[in-house]
Amino acid sequence: MRLSRYFLPVLKETPSEAQIASHRLMLRAGMIKQASAGIYSWLPLGWRVLKRVEQIVHEEQQRMGHIPMLMPTIQPADLWQESGRYNAYGPEMLRIRDRHDRDMLFGPTNEEMITDIFRAHVSSYRDLPLTLYHVQWKFRDEVRPRFGVMRGREFLMKDGYNFDLTYEDALHAYNRHLVSYLRTYERMGLQAIPMRAESGPIGGDDTHEFLVLAETGESGVFYDSEITDLRFGDRQIDPDDREGCRAVLEEFTSRYARTDDTHDAAAFEAQVPEERRREARGIEVGQIFYFGTKYSEPMGATVVDPEGNRVPVHMGSHGIGVSRLLGAIIEANHDERGIIWPEGVTPFHVGLVNLKQGDATADTACDQIYAALGQAGLDTLYHDGDDRAGAKFATMDLIGLPWRITVGPRGLEKGVVELTSRRTGESEEMTPEQAVTRLAQIYAPHR
Ligand SMILES: Nc1ncnc2c1ncn2[C@@H]1O[C@H](COP(=O)(O)OP(=O)(O)OP(=O)(O)O)[C@@H](O)[C@H]1O
Ligand SMILES: [Mg+2]
Repeated sequence: MRLSRYFLPVLKETPSEAQIASHRLMLRAGMIKQASAGIYSWLPLGWRVLKRVEQIVHEEQQRMGHIPMLMPTIQPADLWQESGRYNAYGPEMLRIRDRHDRDMLFGPTNEEMITDIFRAHVSSYRDLPLTLYHVQWKFRDEVRPRFGVMRGREFLMKDGYNFDLTYEDALHAYNRHLVSYLRTYERMGLQAIPMRAESGPIGGDDTHEFLVLAETGESGVFYDSEITDLRFGDRQIDPDDREGCRAVLEEFTSRYARTDDTHDAAAFEAQVPEERRREARGIEVGQIFYFGTKYSEPMGATVVDPEGNRVPVHMGSHGIGVSRLLGAIIEANHDERGIIWPEGVTPFHVGLVNLKQGDATADTACDQIYAALGQAGLDTLYHDGDDRAGAKFATMDLIGLPWRITVGPRGLEKGVVELTSRRTGESEEMTPEQAVTRLAQIYAPHR
């Protein structure tokens, strides 16, 4: 993409309404524009990152055998009356009436709808286990939408639902989701710590939230510092490997880690030596729930078990805050000059800066490098305007592409360009071919 033909409305001024870095930077980098409180348009750069994050979520869900689908945003109220949540949900639910006076709502979550789909089509234990998920816009009429996409009213969520015959099977589904989530967040360059949580309006007994540590997080968190040394890494775990999934749950949740909702000061002191006790803030980027037959019983989602009895299925639901993740990633990855995208989610792999636009040698070299990067499967944002070098660097630093290739007449006389890391600021001279090869190597694990 050539910047001269792109739509990147960067802001010079720091928007006054933004209280935290990620909100400020998303506005300044031209990623989002507020449509009304807590509702945003995703401008081209923001859209690219959102799609990257969504794609990683899809890949990791499907790696664990979960099946993608898509349910509508608008739901009929009667499904929620059946489960008993229509009245319980309160003013966070956006209630709508259609022209025939039917009560509808903009879905804040989809337990009822998925249960309705399940009961219409599944009736035997032979069709279990089953996990269906989608990535869809949700609406929750939050009292105080704030911090940009972090606490929006309209937001993108991955929500998945498991259906199992027994409690043990459902527990495996829970553990499997925990494994997939750990991998998902690490691919985005994030450490998200599973913490024991309270269940809230979704309901349920077993539940963990995933928190990214950040000073601007809305949740207070208390944890054993050993937890931050844990890495999931590139482990390959078979979705049917019950013992393997259980061992990961054990490894990542046996140490003390709780949010202020579930924190127990006495247990914290008893379980964690003083020098390892940490109190901090965190951003909730996901949550997993086991809730048994809470919806299957009232809604009649049953199967015939091997003995011929009709039994309600055991269920759980599992959410990832896809749009909120962009804010969380930026909170964890920025400096005074702008965003620093982790390689896994960057909107473009590399920025190309031409120091002397209009100089035939520099222009030709840039065109060749741009083509070679494309050949190598890398997305390039080519800053091809007439701005001064300093202004081009400032824009590139603001939008945070992890790598930049700088091309200028002086280097070209020696046959070299400069490859610069946004994170470390370090630059290295090399031939254009070497730069392309290096970038292809850097990005190989992220594709
Ligand atoms: N208003 C929101 N804006 C953006 N993302 C959200 C919002 N509410 C929830 N999410 C994301 O969706 C995920 C799954 O939704 P869940 O029902 O667990 O939310 P929640 O626990 O009610 O969130 P919160 O406690 O932050 O209000 C959350 O972990 C979070 O990352
Ligand atoms: Mg939650």
